Amino acid sequence: MKLKDARLDFEALMSEVIFGHGFLHYGYWPDGAPEVPSAEALGRAQRAYFDRLLAAIPAETETILDVGSGTGSNARALTEAGFKLECLCPSEQLNEMARRKLPETVKVHTVRFEDFESDKRFDMCLFAESFHYIELEPALRQTARYARNGVVIFDYFRLPGKGTLAEGEEGTRGTHAEFLAEVARQGVFRVVEDADMTDAIIPTFQVLDHLKNVHVAPFVARIRKDYRKANPVRGFLAELLLGKALNRFQKPGRRAQSFAGKFEYRLIRLERM
Ligand SMILES: C[S@@+](CC[C@H](N)C(=O)[O-])C[C@H]1O[C@@H](n2cnc3c(N)ncnc32)[C@H](O)[C@@H]1O
Repeated sequence: MKLKDARLDFEALMSEVIFGHGFLHYGYWPDGAPEVPSAEALGRAQRAYFDRLLAAIPAETETILDVGSGTGSNARALTEAGFKLECLCPSEQLNEMARRKLPETVKVHTVRFEDFESDKRFDMCLFAESFHYIELEPALRQTARYARNGVVIFDYFRLPGKGTLAEGEEGTRGTHAEFLAEVARQGVFRVVEDADMTDAIIPTFQVLDHLKNVHVAPFVARIRKDYRKANPVRGFLAELLLGKALNRFQKPGRRAQSFAGKFEYRLIRLERM
């Protein structure tokens, strides 16, 4: 298993345990950062992200292929809203979580979108923070094959010259300009909505930075110090084993600046020409 997959599985578990909903996307904050930065506020903002996604789905839509369906939380809420869905995601761990919460009528396929084979067609394909995991050309080619009417993408793109992938990291993280150029080159869809949502997503990282810098990191520092004082030998051994990782963790988080410097978050709707 790759590190990024293990991290997603862990985040899924945390999302289920802490927030109860299992959303694996960032939060949406149209009114800016919350007065009290808390996990509870983040959970609510993830729900607001879903509501914004729902509002972007064209009125005539009945069937949806949810590409990169995570723990099935979007699919469950969409099913409750009356849509007929199929889900796909390469992680069996996430799919098991999805099957537990979805009605049996919702098929969940364990496959990469690039490799997905089916005779079924859908009114639209949905990518909720999953488009950047998939190579651009096959993602759009497969979308043209499966989406009768159009596509909704709520995801981030790399800013030109920034945010390159770390070595061994999966995904494509292409730029918005590359995306538009490939849409034009394939000539199947036209862009009918394309909004920059970065400012409404950034508070996610402000909240995460705050929780880490103000609460969790000082707590870990205190525990380390107290443990070493009370148990000098075991404390020494624990430091030998975990010290470096903990030092790294305790460095101040600056994810808000880092994300804003590298990525733009967009809500895009494509329609078949
Ligand atoms: C950040 S999660 C988003 C999950 C969900 N859409 C949500 O909004 O909560 C990204 C999802 O994309 C999936 N994914 C990664 N690579 C993929 C691929 N090649 N094809 C389809 N899905 C993929 C991941 O397994 C995960 O389910």
